[in-house]
Amino acid sequence: MKYRDEISFDDFDELNNPKPDENDFDRVLEAALTRRGLLKSIVAIGGVAAIGSFGSILPTGEAQALTSRFAFDAIDANDLDDITLPPGYSHQVVVRWGDPMWSDGVEFDHATRGTAESQMKAFGDNIDGMEVFSHGDKTLMVVNNEYTNRSIIWGNREEGAWDTNDDVLKGKMAHGLTVVEIKQDDSGAWSMVKDSPYNRRVTPDTEMEMTGPARAHPLVQTAADPAGTTPLGTYNNCGNGSTPWGTYLACEENFNGYFSAPDENHKVSAELSRYGISANDWGYGWAQIDDRFDVSKNPNEPNRFGYVVEIDPRQPDAAPKKRTALGRFKHENAELVINKDGRVVVYMGDDERGEFLYRFVSDGVFATGGDTDKLLEEGKLYAAKFYDSGAGEWLELNPETSGLASMAEVCIHTRIAASKVGATTMDRPEWVTANPNSPEVYCALTNNKNRGLKPNAGGDLTPASGPNPRAENHYGQVVRWRPNAGDHTSDGFAWDLFVMAGNPAVHKDLYGGSDNVNVDNMFNSPDGLKFDSNGLLWIQTDGNYSNEGDFAGHGNNQMLAADTHTGEIRRFMVGPLQCEVTGLTWSADRKTMFVGIQHPGERGVGHWPEGGDAVPRSAVIAVQRDDGGLMG
Ligand code: FEO
Ligand code: CA
Ligand code: CA
Repeated sequence: MKYRDEISFDDFDELNNPKPDENDFDRVLEAALTRRGLLKSIVAIGGVAAIGSFGSILPTGEAQALTSRFAFDAIDANDLDDITLPPGYSHQVVVRWGDPMWSDGVEFDHATRGTAESQMKAFGDNIDGMEVFSHGDKTLMVVNNEYTNRSIIWGNREEGAWDTNDDVLKGKMAHGLTVVEIKQDDSGAWSMVKDSPYNRRVTPDTEMEMTGPARAHPLVQTAADPAGTTPLGTYNNCGNGSTPWGTYLACEENFNGYFSAPDENHKVSAELSRYGISANDWGYGWAQIDDRFDVSKNPNEPNRFGYVVEIDPRQPDAAPKKRTALGRFKHENAELVINKDGRVVVYMGDDERGEFLYRFVSDGVFATGGDTDKLLEEGKLYAAKFYDSGAGEWLELNPETSGLASMAEVCIHTRIAASKVGATTMDRPEWVTANPNSPEVYCALTNNKNRGLKPNAGGDLTPASGPNPRAENHYGQVVRWRPNAGDHTSDGFAWDLFVMAGNPAVHKDLYGGSDNVNVDNMFNSPDGLKFDSNGLLWIQTDGNYSNEGDFAGHGNNQMLAADTHTGEIRRFMVGPLQCEVTGLTWSADRKTMFVGIQHPGERGVGHWPEGGDAVPRSAVIAVQRDDGGLMG
C-alpha cells in the first residue's frame, strides 16, 4: 500500500480507481486535428496557442501609461533550505504548526510531535489559503490547515504511521482551520496573541450548519444527523476566498481520502466513486476512531463534504455554514467578485485531472450593511466550456440541463451534472483570482499528466486542445478570461493563455513554455494565484522540485509576480526544501505580505524553519520591505 506522502492525491485515487487509456479512435483523431489547427494559430500570431492575444485589445491609453510595475529585482532559482528574497526585503516567521494558542497548551515537542490534546490547542498543520481581517483594533488571521504529512506528524513512530488511537486523533486535529489574533510590535514584527477570545480551532469535529439546496436532502442524512442539517467538521481545506461582508470561505478539496471500509473489497456507489471514495483511505485511519468515516456503515457521510464553508472570524462560537449552492467537488478556492449590478459571482476550480471550472451567480444583490445570509445560498451554478476559437460559455447546471432529479442533487453530484452538459475538462484548476482593476479573471491550471492519454474520473475524454493544449502536461499554464461586456454574469467570455510554464533550456517546442517564460524565470505547476491591490499578479508554485531533467533549473517551489499588461514575470521568492508555497494575503496597511510555507521537508530532507535536526514545520511568514514601503 502506498500512502499519500509518497504519491500525489490524484495518483492515489487512480490506484484505487484505475482509469482506462483513451482508445476512442475518433476522439483521438479529432484531438490531433484540433492540435494541428492550434499549432497553425501559434505560428500565425508568432507566440504560442493564443498566448497573450489579449495584449492587443488593451485600451491603448492604459497600455501606454504603464511603466515597470515591479518594485524588486528578480532572484535566481535555488535549492536552499531557506527563504530567499530580493535585496531590500526581509521575512520573519509569524506562527508555526504546533504553536500553542492558549496558555494551557504546550510548546511543540520535536521528539513526540505532540499529542491529540496538544494539537487541539495548537496551530494546525499544512498551511494553505489564508486571509487577514480587521475587527476594530484587532487583526484576525484565518488559515486553512489542509492536511498533515504522515511521515512527519508520526515521525516518532518507526513506520512513520499512526500506532495508537491518540496518534490518529492527533492527525485529525492537525486538519481544519486556525483563527488567531495577531499583533505587531514596535519593531514591526508580527506574532500570535495567546488566549485571545478570537483564537479558535475549527476541526473535522466542529459542528456546522448545512445551507442551500442540499440542506436536509436524503443524500446528506445520516444516523447521527437524520435531519441532514448539522454535519460535523471540515478538512482538507485548500485555497480560500473572502467576502466584502467580512467572512472567510474555506474550500474542501480532497475530502475523499479519509473514508475507508473494513472490507477492502467493499464497493461504493458510482456517485461516490466519481469523487474518488473507495474502501481505502490515504492512511489517516479516521474510521478507526470515528464511524462516520467507515463508508460501509455511513455511505452518505461523504456527501456532507466537498463544499465551500463560510466562517465569520468575529464570531468564534458561531457554527460555520456549508454553502451547498456553490456545488460539491474538490474545491480549490472561491474567488468572489461583486458584479457591476451588485450580484455576487464566485469562480471556483475543481482540482483533479480533467475536472471542471465553475461559476456561481447569486439571485440577490450585495449592499453594504444589508442582509448577506442568502447571497451564497440562492443562485445559479454553471460550468465552463472553452472553444478553440477563443470564445467561451458558461453552461447552467440545473435539473433540466443535467437530467438530475432536483437542484439538491445538482449541488451534491455537481461533477456528474457538469459532465452531462459537456463542460471542458481542464488541467487541474487551482486558484482563481479576479483583477481588482478590470473585469478579467485568471486561473492556474497546474498540470495534468493524463491530458490526451486518459479520461477524467467520469469518463470524459481529455483531448489536448483549447486552454489545455499540451498532452502529458507536466508544467501547467494560467488561463484568463474576460466576461462579455465586462459583466461577470454574462454567459459568454473570451479567453487566452497568459502563460504556459515550461523549460526552455530543455525543450524547444510547446514544453519550452510561452514567450514570457525564459531560463531566468522558469517554473512549473502554478497553484496559488492572487492579484494585489495594484493589479500585480502573484503566482505560487506547488510542483516538481527535483531540479533535474524536465525540471532542471526550476529549483524549489517559489513565488513569482507577473505584470499582466506586458506579460513579464519575475521570481520574487524561493521557498525552503520540499515545501509548497501557498496562501497569500496582506496586512491592512499593505506593508506586510503574509505567505504560507506548506510541508517543508515533506520527503525527509529539510529542517526549516528551525534548522539543525529540528522537525520541519509549516509556517506563516511575514515579508516586508526594509524601507517600510508597500508590499502590494
Ligand atoms: Fe490543495 Fe489543489 O491544491
Ligand atoms: Ca493548491
Ligand atoms: Ca497543491
